[in-house]
Amino acid sequence: MSKGTFYITTPIYYPSDNLHIGHAYTTVAADTMARFKKLTGHDVYFLTGSDEHGQKIERTAKEKGETPIEYVDKIVAGFQNLWDNLDVKYDDFIRTTEDRHKVVVQKFFQQLHEQGDIYKSAYKGLYCTPCETFFTEYQLAEGKCPDCGREVEEIEEESYFFKMSKYADRWLKFVEDNPSFIQPETRRNEMISFVKQGLEDLCVSRTTFDWGIKVPFDPKHVVYVWVDALTNYISALGYDTDNDQLYQKYWPANVHLVGKDIMRFHTIIWPIMLMALKLPLPQKVVGHGWLLLAGGKMSKSKGNVVDPLVLVDKYGVDAVRYYLLRELPFGSDGYYSEEALAKRTNNDLANDYGNLLSRSSSMLVKYQQGELRKPTPEGDLDEELIKLAVETPKIVEQNMSNLQISTAAEAIGKLVGRANKYLEETAPWSLAKDESQAERLNTVLYNVIEVMRFATIMLSPFMPNIAEKVWPQMGIEDKPDLHTWESLQWGQLPEGTVVKKGKVLFPRIDLSEI
Ligand code: ME8
Ligand code: MG
Repeated sequence: MSKGTFYITTPIYYPSDNLHIGHAYTTVAADTMARFKKLTGHDVYFLTGSDEHGQKIERTAKEKGETPIEYVDKIVAGFQNLWDNLDVKYDDFIRTTEDRHKVVVQKFFQQLHEQGDIYKSAYKGLYCTPCETFFTEYQLAEGKCPDCGREVEEIEEESYFFKMSKYADRWLKFVEDNPSFIQPETRRNEMISFVKQGLEDLCVSRTTFDWGIKVPFDPKHVVYVWVDALTNYISALGYDTDNDQLYQKYWPANVHLVGKDIMRFHTIIWPIMLMALKLPLPQKVVGHGWLLLAGGKMSKSKGNVVDPLVLVDKYGVDAVRYYLLRELPFGSDGYYSEEALAKRTNNDLANDYGNLLSRSSSMLVKYQQGELRKPTPEGDLDEELIKLAVETPKIVEQNMSNLQISTAAEAIGKLVGRANKYLEETAPWSLAKDESQAERLNTVLYNVIEVMRFATIMLSPFMPNIAEKVWPQMGIEDKPDLHTWESLQWGQLPEGTVVKKGKVLFPRIDLSEI
């Protein structure tokens, strides 16, 4: 039974260079949300892609002696390879150089022009090419781009403008009426005060370079790359074409997940574009924090990037994904370090999660040939563990629906930790020495294995490869009914299940080797 549709998007990244661990964070988080919503019964659509136009790409290609399309084709193939390596399973990958996208942008632009929301004027101002963003004098930080700290360029040219100012009041009303539209709260407040300071019309075309989508009624202009890019969220769904079933089904998006650096575009410009076209607005725009290096923000323009492929190769995809998802608290920044990744893997995955399975399965094999019998819960310890196990899926679902991904992971970790402590408290190795405790021994081991099943189901959106390793060890690989979210009811593991000893799930990393 479907609980309704869930459409989630990532930013479409610039192919100005290869992607780094910061971009991987956004996309892995979106993928985990998509997997989680699928697991909990939603009809999910997950979109990502590449933002291929603009002056920066044109210049970069030229420096490499390539045509823009030759250049972006290669880089975008690298994006897709990275997502494959991170087990990111998107439903569609949109490239802004595709015709299916261009036609929608052109119709969009044309319509706004026809209805008088786009007009021609002259632009004189400051432009940051790496960020593809216009600034006013007042917005600069010590004369430089407030986002990346680089020099801005003075631009003077004939341009088209979009009447954003006309919509400022409607925008404010919408944001007031929809308190959860912009998340987290701090970003919402920033955006509101930005708009209250007065919204200027937006320059939406350029004439000084070619690498973009032509303005249909004035082809010496190309469409401003942000207007082009934002449209991807509906062009990918076939909006305004004969083939618009996806648009009908999935729009408006449930979540646009973006970094805090591009909140203004997603929470102000994009909604106003949609308002002007009388289209429904996305339900939520969620801005996450940055993954920082000890030296500051990681960025392609600074050249201090961490390549996620190297990490996946070294630590495995599940550990890298888990680290990213667990480490960055919702909305705030976090520091990346390889040491923190290794420690996180050792503590949460090797010592806690993996160890729970290896300890309990070895004991089961040793004491009762791996066979689970009917448990007979009796004491407070059992009840406490079972209560936590039954509550945890609800806590996880609650947190995930608020995109509190790290808090959700933490809650699962708590359950796993509790089960390890339960093993210490019940000491099955002592119970095994006493014939008369056979039933108690079985109960303890049953409970721990059942927790392992709970944890594995809940963790599977975070780490897509654990289930296929755990189910065979638990002897339930051919029982798909025990792998579902609905099966998270205590005591579903049937009597007679035979647990085997298997490979260590997460080998400990030697910290001295980092
Ligand atoms: O802005 N930590 O593309 P972009 C966390 N093409 N996230 C990071 C990060 C970091 N250090 N660095 C980058 C663009 N990101 C536009 C988007 S959408 C219609 C157009 C992530 O290649 C974060 O999600 O500069 C940020 O918003 C995005 O990458 C920017 O990617
Ligand atoms: Mg950027």
